[in-house]
Amino acid sequence: MSNSSTATTQWVGRWGFVLAATGSAVGLGNIWKFPYMTGEYGGAAFVLVYLACILAIGVPVMMAEIVFGRRGRGSPVDALKAMARESRCSPLWSLTGWMAMLCGFLILCFYVVVAGWALSYVWKSISGGLGLGNVEAYQALFGATNASPWTLGGWSTLVTLITMLIVGKGVQEGIEKNVNWMMPGLVVLLAVMIVYAFFSGGFGEGARFLFAFDPSKLTAGALLAALGHAFFTLSLASGAILTYGAYLPAHRSIASTTVLVALCDTLIALMAGLAIFPIIFANGMDPSSGPGLIFMSLPMAFDHMPFGGIIATVFFIMLSLAALTSSISMVEATIAFLERHTRYSRRALSVMVGVVLWIISMMAMLSFNAGADWTPGGKTVFDWLDYLTSRWMMPLGGLLTAIMAGYVFNRQALKDELAVSSLVWGLWQFALRYITPVGIVLIFIDALGWWAI
Ligand code: PHE
Ligand code: NA
Repeated sequence: MSNSSTATTQWVGRWGFVLAATGSAVGLGNIWKFPYMTGEYGGAAFVLVYLACILAIGVPVMMAEIVFGRRGRGSPVDALKAMARESRCSPLWSLTGWMAMLCGFLILCFYVVVAGWALSYVWKSISGGLGLGNVEAYQALFGATNASPWTLGGWSTLVTLITMLIVGKGVQEGIEKNVNWMMPGLVVLLAVMIVYAFFSGGFGEGARFLFAFDPSKLTAGALLAALGHAFFTLSLASGAILTYGAYLPAHRSIASTTVLVALCDTLIALMAGLAIFPIIFANGMDPSSGPGLIFMSLPMAFDHMPFGGIIATVFFIMLSLAALTSSISMVEATIAFLERHTRYSRRALSVMVGVVLWIISMMAMLSFNAGADWTPGGKTVFDWLDYLTSRWMMPLGGLLTAIMAGYVFNRQALKDELAVSSLVWGLWQFALRYITPVGIVLIFIDALGWWAI
């Protein structure tokens, strides 16, 4: 094994890891995907399962990933190899690391398209392109944004460029320096949004939609979607958290950091829902209108509100910041891996990886225009990337992570790294050994329709 700078790189600031990991977790998943999925899967039935998955599966798996990253000190592949070596078990467990790296990269390929929407709406809100006043006009605007491969491709290319530029500068000089201002910026903008939403009223119906549980709406599809989204929203099984964990200084508490990151992520998703659904209902819109939901309903709502023009800009800048602090985390695993195993500099590697990313992301982008009719197996490229990563790769990666931390790896090594009371250790192990595997397997079986047999 060659030596490398990544093996010793660490976050500089006291809050480096927390800012970067929260930046990774809080993203389009919270503000774009969570609301539209909740809408598609009928509201509270989805939300309850989602919350259960975060608590019983997401948090323990996130702790395991940070433990692996910090103990193994490297990309998912390298860290898992090191863990396997220390535990004297098969190096094949590091295949989970390969899948995670691939998963993070594939997510990024469609994520840049959505982040491109966000950036383009910042521009529209500043240049006077919003303010259309009615739903139909916004639906048309969203359609037009997608209709031209040049426009949509241009925006997503910009996201790819910014992402690779930041990552190319390095963990400390690129990622940490940027999350240091992006995350506080995001929090300030979000606070403005929440105060604003609160005074605009109408929480009632939105809150009922999010929290009034109706078991009849619980379907196999909703279960699988909620499980997959719990992984997605916490950036799990994609190499992001594990790799950031590799840069975590030794004395930081993994358990409390994990709880903090998961809590922030959950609160922001719920607040996004509380801000969005009242608007949807107040304007008689359909909560199940899919990925375009926030790009059609929100700008229209802003039109009807005092200072709406400014708030629209605030909102879309916030969304763009959230997206960028996530997108950089999706590719860091791949860059860290290549940095250790090739002779190229980080800068050169980010150019090369950026080119591959750009090519695949353009295919995802074309799903909204020229390639919209190309639906092998019934889905566009964009939908396939989303479906394969969230519904299958992430739950599978989470399952393998739980098995490694619960059954396979050296228990003393895990215990030393986690350094928690025996109560917390016991709870963690119980969740990893029993709750996580059983939950994931049952949901898989249910989704595959084996119940019927
Ligand atoms: N957690 C991010 C979000 O909610 C998405 C993400 C997935 C980021 C995987 C990194 C890795 O938007
Ligand atoms: Na998230």
